[in-house]
Amino acid sequence: MSNWFCGVDFGTSNSSVAMSDGNQVQVLGLDAINDSPTSLPSLLYITNEGKPIVGRAAANAFIERNVDREVLLQQVDLGVAIEAYVASEPDKSESYRPGATDPNIQEAVRAKAIMEVNSPGRLFQSLKTLLRHSSFTGTEVFGTHYQIEELVALILAPIKAAADAHAGYDVERAVFGRPVRFSTHDKENDIAEDRLRRAATLTGFKDIAFFYEPVGACVEYAMVAEKKQRLMVVDIGGGTCDVCIMEFGGGHGIGQRLQESSILSVAGVPVAGDIIDKEIIRSKLFPIFGSQARYGPAQLPMPQYLFNQILDWQNLYKLSNEETINWLIAAEGSTDDPLAIRRLRGLIQRNLGYPVTREVEAAKKRLSVDMETMIEIKQELIEVYEPLAREEFAHIIEENLELMLDSIEEAETLAGIKPGDIDLVLTTGGTSLIPAIRQMLVDRYGADRLKQRDTFTSVATGLSLVAQHA
Ligand SMILES: Nc1ncnc2c1ncn2[C@@H]1O[C@H](COP(=O)(O)OP(=O)(O)OP(=O)(O)O)[C@@H](O)[C@H]1O
Ligand SMILES: [Mg+2]
Repeated sequence: MSNWFCGVDFGTSNSSVAMSDGNQVQVLGLDAINDSPTSLPSLLYITNEGKPIVGRAAANAFIERNVDREVLLQQVDLGVAIEAYVASEPDKSESYRPGATDPNIQEAVRAKAIMEVNSPGRLFQSLKTLLRHSSFTGTEVFGTHYQIEELVALILAPIKAAADAHAGYDVERAVFGRPVRFSTHDKENDIAEDRLRRAATLTGFKDIAFFYEPVGACVEYAMVAEKKQRLMVVDIGGGTCDVCIMEFGGGHGIGQRLQESSILSVAGVPVAGDIIDKEIIRSKLFPIFGSQARYGPAQLPMPQYLFNQILDWQNLYKLSNEETINWLIAAEGSTDDPLAIRRLRGLIQRNLGYPVTREVEAAKKRLSVDMETMIEIKQELIEVYEPLAREEFAHIIEENLELMLDSIEEAETLAGIKPGDIDLVLTTGGTSLIPAIRQMLVDRYGADRLKQRDTFTSVATGLSLVAQHA
């Protein structure tokens, strides 16, 4: 029986697993209905009967069952602020505070603490981002309490099953990737890693080691790197931007090359694809849904929490209550932009937050190929055709790119080297495909030194090699 070495990349958006047996590495199939079957969308849908659905099927189940349906809400004053699950980024709008610390907002949210009585299921996305939030320990799903680790374990379950099936035995040992920084706060970093370890344990792994994700991607390159060189990896995914600089030996075989290698530095920042999607929504769609509109005799500005709820689409249905809908109908009669307010009502009443977010993400991806695209939402009450050009997109995400560049510079400083000292820059992760990000790297290192590795599987592949050789 051969001995298999397992590397797991639990990603914010996509997860993958690779197994190495000393001769070759195999990235395992995880989701037959996904565009790329070797990556499992890190999505979990729990039906109202308590059945978990993972991966592409989770997204499909949510769209089939939860979108465009009647929402029946019951006003229940829980006496406490409602669950603060999401708000995973520092929000720039004035009225929004993650965790709703402003008493006025807390009151507004509390007053809308309503329960849905006919929900068919609940979808969880970007759970990895939630791992760092100490205030989010878990949530109630149809009467059952799930700890955050249990939710993550449900996504890891098919990964463990695939590893076991491939090896032909119960795989107990695995090297898991982790971002360099789950959070900018050290304490939150530790909490996140502990929780991920516990989730992996719940899945059945017993001997779990962590390695930085970009180091995994660097090691993956060891399979083909034949000469001594200094490498930088820039891995930008859904939740984090991770950077590592390694010095590679040029020995024969991966084992020897890794022995001669050393990590010079790592750096990272929790800014990536999810935040970029939200920037697009904020900048391009908020106005379409009336964020600039005025209403009532005094022509007051629209309450901004309504728009921030679009970003927090999992909880958007909570606005579909009589009070808010009647308020929106009244506002439509007195506003300077009735069409926009009608769109907002349609979005809420038909629970279209998730499809809208998906279209924005798809438009963003199209801009990695095309110079311009159209954000197209073709729904009853909401017909949106909003053009977005690559240049405008680059402008919208300028500040995020600066934070990524800061991380790159930090990695260089920590390693005590200059851009000219790096032989090769390897990029991986879906967000590294954004042309403005590639241009940023070309400007710093030149096109000749830039190389793209497999966007979705290079980290898992490298981690399986780490499991074998480290
Ligand atoms: N062609 C593309 N152009 C731009 N962005 C893309 C493209 N393809 C995927 N993305 C974005 O990349 C992100 C997913 O990338 P990836 O699968 O590498 O992340 P992840 O590994 O799950 O996240 P992380 O490593 O941050 O935990 C998503 O935000 C997705 O929208
Ligand atoms: Mg990743």
